[in-house]
Amino acid sequence: MGKNEICEMLGIEYPVFQGGMAWIADGELAAAVSNAGGLGIIAAMNSNGEQLRQQIKRAKELTNKPFGVNLMLMSPFIEETVDVVCQEHIKVVTTGAGNPAAYMKKLLDAGVKVICVVASVPLAVMVERMGACAVVAEGCESGGHVGDTTTMALVPQVVDAVNIPVIAAGGIADARGMAAAFMLGAKAVQMGTRFLTAKECNVHANYKEKVLKAKDRDTIVTGKSLGHPVRALKNRMTREFTEKENTPGTTPEELEKMGAGALRRAAIEGDVRYGSCMCGQIAGLVNTENTCEEIITQICSGAAALLNQSIKVS
Ligand SMILES: Cc1cc2nc3c(=O)[nH]c(=O)nc-3n(C[C@H](O)[C@H](O)[C@H](O)COP(=O)(O)O)c2cc1C
Repeated sequence: MGKNEICEMLGIEYPVFQGGMAWIADGELAAAVSNAGGLGIIAAMNSNGEQLRQQIKRAKELTNKPFGVNLMLMSPFIEETVDVVCQEHIKVVTTGAGNPAAYMKKLLDAGVKVICVVASVPLAVMVERMGACAVVAEGCESGGHVGDTTTMALVPQVVDAVNIPVIAAGGIADARGMAAAFMLGAKAVQMGTRFLTAKECNVHANYKEKVLKAKDRDTIVTGKSLGHPVRALKNRMTREFTEKENTPGTTPEELEKMGAGALRRAAIEGDVRYGSCMCGQIAGLVNTENTCEEIITQICSGAAALLNQSIKVS
């Protein structure tokens, strides 16, 4: 799987994005992915401007290839992080968790390419009208915050609805998944769970081990009643959360309190019993820790063989 229109648009070698992952996708992981020819993406999550600038600085020390920033639109520091992205001449941002309308003009005026993560056709159509250069269609198999349509159903419907390239995300971790995504009309893939276990990923070792050992039915979605469902590995935290969520009379505040800081607890402190180990359904297929280069070259060469394509620049 060689260069295609997404690669040309972003100046990357392979049509593979590493998804922004709060508390996990730092400047080091993003640089490793970009050095391997994919698009590394730093997760801005709830960081303030200076914290994001530090991660960008780290990535710039480690790579001279293009990398992106994932902006979390609900962040209390979203204004600052948008400014930092523009000041640091970041080539591309992906946006998640909300409507990017308020920041679109500033980003586009600064020459930043905007790629929005969408979980539905109407949102894809809306962001195309706003000037997004591509969309990531993310199915509910994925780790982290999820919509309710599967990748298999979502990707072709988004492909048919927009005139910009579509990147498929959710449940893709090997060459078969990538080839399938391309058959559905995607021009690139975004992976989170696969890169969580990359050698260069700084997530806590307990978390990484739990993902590597996970089986096909080991994830669960919690938080539907709050309006922001999250997929994570089953553990004591998700069990107690689910019990509470199903108990009549539980208030949203009580649930929000249980979830607060849970991803950090798992990713940074290594508390995989009472932290949130966000992870996708494809974890059962992810059993080895590989370098980003191994991940990208294996998936691309395997997908090219499956699709019977020679490596070519189009
Ligand atoms: C631990 C974790 C944290 C995530 N955090 C974010 C985030 O901060 N912003 C975002 O847009 N997507 C986030 N995602 C989604 C990923 O960027 C990616 O789209 C998704 O993981 C793809 O599905 P997969 O896990 O099946 O590969 C997260 C995913 C995981 C697993």
